[in-house]
Amino acid sequence: MDENDPIDDESGSVDSNDPTRKEEYIKISVAILGKVTEKLPFDIHIQRAPGKFTKIFSNGDHMDQEQLAKYNLGKNVMHLYIHNTASETYSYYVEKLLEIGLDDPKSHTNAEMRAVVNEMISITLGEIESTMKMDQKTLRWAEKSIQGCTKILENDFNGLVLIMKLFSGQTYSMKHAFMVSIFSLLLAKALDYESERTLNHVGLGGLLHDIGLTRVRKELIGKQDLTPEESKEFKEHPQMGIQIVDDLKGIPSEVRSIILQHHEQPNGYGYPNGLYEKDIFHLAKIVTITDVFATLITEAPYKDATFSPSTAIKMMKQEIGHFDRKILKVFEGLVLPRSPKGADPRYNN
Ligand SMILES: [Fe+2]
Repeated sequence: MDENDPIDDESGSVDSNDPTRKEEYIKISVAILGKVTEKLPFDIHIQRAPGKFTKIFSNGDHMDQEQLAKYNLGKNVMHLYIHNTASETYSYYVEKLLEIGLDDPKSHTNAEMRAVVNEMISITLGEIESTMKMDQKTLRWAEKSIQGCTKILENDFNGLVLIMKLFSGQTYSMKHAFMVSIFSLLLAKALDYESERTLNHVGLGGLLHDIGLTRVRKELIGKQDLTPEESKEFKEHPQMGIQIVDDLKGIPSEVRSIILQHHEQPNGYGYPNGLYEKDIFHLAKIVTITDVFATLITEAPYKDATFSPSTAIKMMKQEIGHFDRKILKVFEGLVLPRSPKGADPRYNN
C-alpha cells in the first residue's frame, strides 16, 4: 500500500458480513513489528471497523517503520492483524525473534523482549487451546517463552509484572495459565531461588500445570456441585497432565512433578496421592499457592465471585494445612507490598 493511500481505501478490505467470505484475522503485537528489519513474511492489516480489514503492508515488502509509526501513533491504531492463513508463519517468526533475544540479550530492548515473550506465550497457549493438544512444537515454544521470562526477571524484577499487563489471552484458561506461570516465577525469585534452571522449571510447571484439563470433559470445568463420579474424573487431571507430557521428549522431571502435585496439600488431604508436606516437591508447593490465588482474583464466566488480592490471601491463610505457610507468607509480602509484614521492596509497582 502506498504511503499516501487513504486509510479508508476499499481495496483489500474484507466485509465479514458477506457470507461467501469466511475469513478470520488474528490480532498481533504492534511492538513485534518494530523489530522487522528484513522483508515481511506475511501481509499486515488494520481493522477499520468491526469485521472490516485493510491491508497496509504486503508479504515481501520491506517494513517501513516510519509508515508503521504513522499508523501506530498518528491514526491511533492499537492493533494490527494478520490473516489466519499466515498464523504459522507468524508463530515461527516470533520464535525466531525470541531466539535472537535469548542468544544475545543486547539485541532487544527490555520493552521489545517483553513484547516478544508475551506474544510467544499467547501463541503457545492459543495453540494448546485450539488444538486441545500438546506437541513437541508447543513444548519448545513454552520452554523458550519461559526462558525469556527468566531472562527478563534476571534484569528487572518488575519486568514480569509489566508483562502481565500486556497479556491479552482470549480465554480464562489462557489467562490463568499465564498468571500462574508469572506469579510462580516471581514467588520463586522472592524465595531466593536464583538458578536459571530452577526458575525455568517453576515457570514451565506453572504454565502447564493444568494441561491435563484438556482431557477432562469441558462441562466439568468450573461446574459447581460435581457429583462424586464427576469429581473423581476432574481430580484425574494431574495424572492426565503427566500422560500428555510423558509422550513428549525432553520434559524435565521437575516440571512433571509440578503438574502431578499441584493439588497436593501439606495436611495430606490433597490429590491425587494425598502426600504430606515433606513428600511434596518444593516447586509444586509454589504453584499450589499461585494457582489458588490466581483463581480467586480472576473473573471467570462460571464464577460467582472474584476477590481482591488481600481478601484472597486472607482466605488462603484461613485454609489451615492447605498451603505451605512459609511460602504463603513470602507470597503475601510479594502481592500485598503494603502489608506490614514481609513487604518486598523489589515489588514496588
Ligand atoms: Fe489443577
